[in-house]
Amino acid sequence: MFQQISEDIRSVFARDPAARSSVEVFLTYPGVHAMIFHRMAHSLWLRGWKLSARLLAMVARGITGIEIHPGATIGRRFFIDHGMGVVIGETAEIGDDVTLYHGVTLGGTSWNKGKRHPTVGNGVVVGAGAKILGPISVGEGARVGSNAVVTRPVPPGATVVGIPGRIVRREEEHGDEREQRRRAMAEKIGFDAYGMTPDMPDPIANSIRAALDHLQAVDEKLNDICVAMQKAGISICEEMPELKNELDVLEPQNGGNT
Ligand SMILES: CC(C)(COP(=O)(O)OP(=O)(O)OC[C@H]1O[C@@H](n2cnc3c(N)ncnc32)[C@H](O)[C@@H]1OP(=O)(O)O)[C@@H](O)C(=O)NCCC(=O)NCCS
Repeated sequence: MFQQISEDIRSVFARDPAARSSVEVFLTYPGVHAMIFHRMAHSLWLRGWKLSARLLAMVARGITGIEIHPGATIGRRFFIDHGMGVVIGETAEIGDDVTLYHGVTLGGTSWNKGKRHPTVGNGVVVGAGAKILGPISVGEGARVGSNAVVTRPVPPGATVVGIPGRIVRREEEHGDEREQRRRAMAEKIGFDAYGMTPDMPDPIANSIRAALDHLQAVDEKLNDICVAMQKAGISICEEMPELKNELDVLEPQNGGNT
């Protein structure tokens, strides 16, 4: 636990240019105080000392303005900057190297017991005032803009802003690879994918991208089935019919006279 607390303190320097010395961070950062209390409260919680854990969390809230349920699981080098108004629910799970600013809520959307709070991946940054609600996951390295309200899963590396949260940026590598596969599929079915970029927020473009992803997945499954059938001595997938695009089908009727 002491090692974790010392890591929490050291992690502040990389994320707050205003931090000057370990002593200063230890004495004056409410986010650090909240984590010292939480590391202790969580350990009591895990040992079954639930009431003591809740009392400790309540004291921490009074001192820091940061409310972390002692049941919340928090990884290493966690940093809450400024802190006031942060709320982290009981079943929230937070990875390593996560940063939250003041006013962030990792909350639930139902009163049912069980998992009802978000899971936040390694290296995520959540801007001031953002609310992440429900048992959704925020992928590794994602960024949530200040004051966003996020109720749907966020892919790794994405940036989400606004209410409701919308993705304004996606992770380059994943995006590129997926985008290439989409374009290949679009070409195969004669669809002109010109102008469709991964960061287009247009709902129609999003639906088309989802449809292309689905077609790609069906295609791969079909291939696997064909290979398995062939291995079993059944050959029903000799040659797939060529897919024609709509213009090719219409051309003979137009007779090329227009
Ligand atoms: C979202 C954030 C991480 C920036 O991410 P980014 O990938 O660099 O995004 P950009 O700044 O290029 O902005 C991308 C688009 O989102 C918009 N945007 C950025 N942050 C936004 C926010 N919080 N709410 C709404 N829209 C936002 C930008 O205006 C831009 O829109 P445009 O493409 O129409 O011009 C950052 O704006 C943010 O909110 N950080 C939190 C910082 C914070 O809370 N600090 C508190 C210190 S006390």
